[in-house]
Order: sequence, then structure tokens, then C-alpha cells
Amino acid sequence: MSKVIKNGTVVTADLTYKADVLVEGGKIVEIGPDLAGDETLDATGCYVMPGGIDPHTHLEMPFMGTYSSDDFESGTRAALAGGTTMVVDFALPSPGQGLLDALQMWDNKSTRAHCDYSFHMAITWWSEQVFNEMEAVVRDRGITTFKHFMAYKGALMVNDDELYASFQRCAELGAIPMVHAENGDVVAELSAKLLAAGNNGPEGHAYSRPPQVEGEATNRAIMIADMAGVPLYVVHVSCEDSHEAIRRARMQGKRVWGEPLIQHLTLDESEYFDKDWDHAARRVMSPPFRNKMHQDSLWNGLQSGSLSCVATDHCAFSTDQKRYGVGDFTKIPNGTGGLEDRIPMLWTYGVGTGRLTPNEFVAATSTNSAKILNCYPRKGAILVGADADILVLDPEKTKTISAATQQSAIDYNVFEGKEVKGLPRFVLTRGRVAVMDGEMQPEEGHGQFVKREPSGAVNKALSSWKELTAPRPVERSGIPATGV
Ligand code: URP
Ligand code: ZN
Ligand code: ZN
Ligand code: ZN
Repeated sequence: MSKVIKNGTVVTADLTYKADVLVEGGKIVEIGPDLAGDETLDATGCYVMPGGIDPHTHLEMPFMGTYSSDDFESGTRAALAGGTTMVVDFALPSPGQGLLDALQMWDNKSTRAHCDYSFHMAITWWSEQVFNEMEAVVRDRGITTFKHFMAYKGALMVNDDELYASFQRCAELGAIPMVHAENGDVVAELSAKLLAAGNNGPEGHAYSRPPQVEGEATNRAIMIADMAGVPLYVVHVSCEDSHEAIRRARMQGKRVWGEPLIQHLTLDESEYFDKDWDHAARRVMSPPFRNKMHQDSLWNGLQSGSLSCVATDHCAFSTDQKRYGVGDFTKIPNGTGGLEDRIPMLWTYGVGTGRLTPNEFVAATSTNSAKILNCYPRKGAILVGADADILVLDPEKTKTISAATQQSAIDYNVFEGKEVKGLPRFVLTRGRVAVMDGEMQPEEGHGQFVKREPSGAVNKALSSWKELTAPRPVERSGIPATGV
């Protein structure tokens, strides 16, 4: 049965035009004027865009002695409610666990997904087994991105020798390394010092992770990636210090992408000074929220193109879980939600204020991720042949964000009370209407895994250049005799 989205304005990363979009068999089959289908979705007054891609989520993530509360069921339901039609989650081996073994666990968790998804693989320890299994992860499983934590000392953190080894392996396999860039050694020292001085509240979390720990680690990861001859993706860029390192690298021709989060763009550090412990602890995430100067830097990066994709790092813990850290901020599970709110918040605070054009919005919420992660134009596009993952956004529709009406399983929302303008009228996931005139009609298990190919264009270009400029011995004819 075909569906036609009629009377809307198609908005992609580079074009805006009036057209109908015909969908059949889960794909976009025709784009043009006056199309007809078995079912009509009226998009009068709306923008017809590629569904959102959130390149960074943690659904049912084992972390800090607990599991994040949104799993693939509630998490992808929240995603669809907010116009996101694909999430990319992190398969996370516990130190000592094989990569393929961990993947099996993530395969099991994700069977309930309402929308399509892919995985990044985390490198949380290093060994010959990890080195070997990386190949099967890329070639057999179509997972071409490897995440490295430079923070969480004693748990997920890897050191520079491990980073360099893994980055070189990524280069060989045509994969892309990603980093959570914070200097974990310094964070551990600062945390211990703060606790010893009686700073044990949630604000201690922010004090323990100043922008310098992020700037230093970002710069280090960029240089290590350059030496390994591989592109680099920096997750949750929260501050000017990290953004500045990325900007400089890009101006030098290095292939580095930065990902700001909707939380860092719209919420600031004053949240941690709230008198209510729960309020502050619910906002504890790494890196922490920053001041306005850093927020402006992130917006400028989206405007100028030095930052590429807006994500959520959705990692939702309930208030009860956050209370594990009463009396010791280092035990507050790190993470915040945002899957349902990313698109309405970025539309409201980005397009609504004139900071972003609608095309830049589409690039930042969908197309850039699809291109970097090498699943474009199957995802991230309104093109004939693309998956019919489509967001029909009504720019006049408003709501006040509230935990009382959200899909997420947790009992609060960090954006509580924010007025947003620009909400989904329809959301299609591979042609299936999951949001109908603003009402949810999701289907558990509809989501499919998206396999990705290694050796995307940037990897190829970079390895050609590295090969061309690799150290070579100078050919000499008259070599003098060895001196005595
Ligand atoms: O605080 C955060 N960001 N929690 C999720 C795990 C991570 O570091 O991305
Ligand atoms: Zn992280
Ligand atoms: Zn994360
Ligand atoms: Zn289905």
C-alpha cells in the first residue's frame, strides 16, 4: 500500500522546494507535483524532512553500578515521538569481555526497537583478541565506528598507547575512531581533592571537570589520530576549549568532526547550583553543562560548519538512581535524557532564533551523521530510493516540555517547562506511520539494524594521502664508507 505526503515543503540539507513524496515498500519511490497514493498524509504548512538520526545514545547501558532506564523499547519510542527515526547506540564490552560477545548482548537488547538503529563498538580494554575481533566487527557486522573513553579512570578509560594502537587498527580497517575526550587522570585527582575538602554535592561534578580537561584530551586525541592516519569523531563537545582544538585541526586539513549535544547548547552550569539536590543531580553528565561563552561557541560551530552533528548522548537515570550519589558526587550515575526533545529544542532555539537555517538544521540533525557514518543516502535523505524515514514538521505547533507527557521511562525531564515551537505532525519509519497527526502509534520490534560499509570517502582520501607522504628512505648513489 502506498502513501503520499501531500502539499508540504521538502527541506533537505541543501534544498527547499514544494513537492509531494510517494512512499511504498518502506522506500521513497517518487518526488514531484500532484502525486497520488492509497493513503494521503496532509502536510499543508509543514516541512518534509529526513527523519532525525541521533548518532549517540546509551539505551539500557550498564554504567556506574546500574543500567540506564530507557531501553530500546522506551528509548526508540521517545525518539520517534520527537522526529528521530534512527539511533546509533554503543555496544560496550566490560573490560576483559570480547567484542563479539558484547555485540551479542546488544543484539538481544535491541530486538524491541521501534525505529532503525546501528551500533558503535566501544574499545574499553586492549589485547590481541580485541585487535583481531575488530576485523569481524567491521567486515561481518557492518559496525565501522569505535569509541574510546579517555575518562572514567579505573572503569572504561583507555590510555594513550591503547588509543594509538586502536586508532592504527581503525586506519587499517577503514573504520573511524571516536573519543569521549576528558583527561581521566586529572578528573580523578580533582574529584579526590574536592571530596576531601567537603565538596560532595552535585556541583562538585562540574568543578571536577573544567573545560581544560576536555580541551587537553581533544587535542591529544586529534594528534594521535593524525599520527595514526585516521579521521576522528569527537563526541559531546561541550566547550570552546575542545571546539577550538577541532576548529584548528580542521583548518589544518585534518579530518575531525565534532558533535555538540542539545543539552550543552541549551542548558547551562547554573543548573548545578540549584538548592534542590535532586534537580542538580539529575543534570549530572560528562562533560558537564557550561557557561554562556561555551554555549555561544557551540552555536557558532554549527553555524560555521566546524561542528557537525547534534546528538543527545541519551543515557537516562531515574531520580532514585541519581540518589546513589548522595554524599559523594562521583557516585551519581552520569547521563541525561533528550531523545524526544532534541529536534523540537534545536528547531526552537536554532531555527526559531535565526541561528540556523532549516537546511543547516537538517544537516545537523540527520544528513551529516548519515554521511559521516556511511549510511547516506539510504538514511538522512529525501531522495528516490532512500528509506522512507521521514519527519513532517509543523512549524506552528507548540508544547511545553514535561515529564508528565513524555515517552521516556524516567520521572523527570531536564528540559521541563521549556516552550517549544515546531513539532512532528507525522513521523514515518521505513514507510510505517509511527506518529499520526501528533499521536503515537509505534510498533515494537519494527526497527532493523543498519549495517554500514567501511572505507568511506574520507578514510579513502586520508589513506591515499598518508601513503603518498609516508616516510621513505632517500635513494643515494655514492654512500661514503663507514667512518672509524
Ligand atoms: O555522562 C554521560 N555522558 N553519560 C553517558 C556515557 C558517556 O560518557 O557518554
Ligand atoms: Zn561520553
Ligand atoms: Zn555517551
Ligand atoms: Zn513493521
